[in-house]
Amino acid sequence: MPKIIVLPHDTLCPEGAVLEANSGESVLDVALKNGIHIEHACEKSCACTTCHVVIREGFDSLDESDELEDDMLDKAWGLEPESRLSCQAKVADDDLVIEIPKYSLNHAKEDH
Ligand code: FES
Repeated sequence: MPKIIVLPHDTLCPEGAVLEANSGESVLDVALKNGIHIEHACEKSCACTTCHVVIREGFDSLDESDELEDDMLDKAWGLEPESRLSCQAKVADDDLVIEIPKYSLNHAKEDH
């Protein structure tokens, strides 16, 4: 079973976590079922970017993002080359290390 290692995030997961995943599950679903409440304002329909995460290890094991995901990612706060929408990124066979950005798009809007 692949694992998802979640790096510490101040509010969502202060200690970090190691999660068991099944191949084919989305990164978001694995996090949610383990009590890590990554935002998902559009209910996983690839329309909001609040579920943005950065894949620190294992990025290449994931299916490539499609055009819609890329368009949505362009709006994400703190976009990086290894950014993905966690509702769209499906775990493959490799372990992943993910970082949840400090802010989501919603927070960024509230701050400015
Ligand atoms: S939950 Fe909205 S894009 Fe992933």
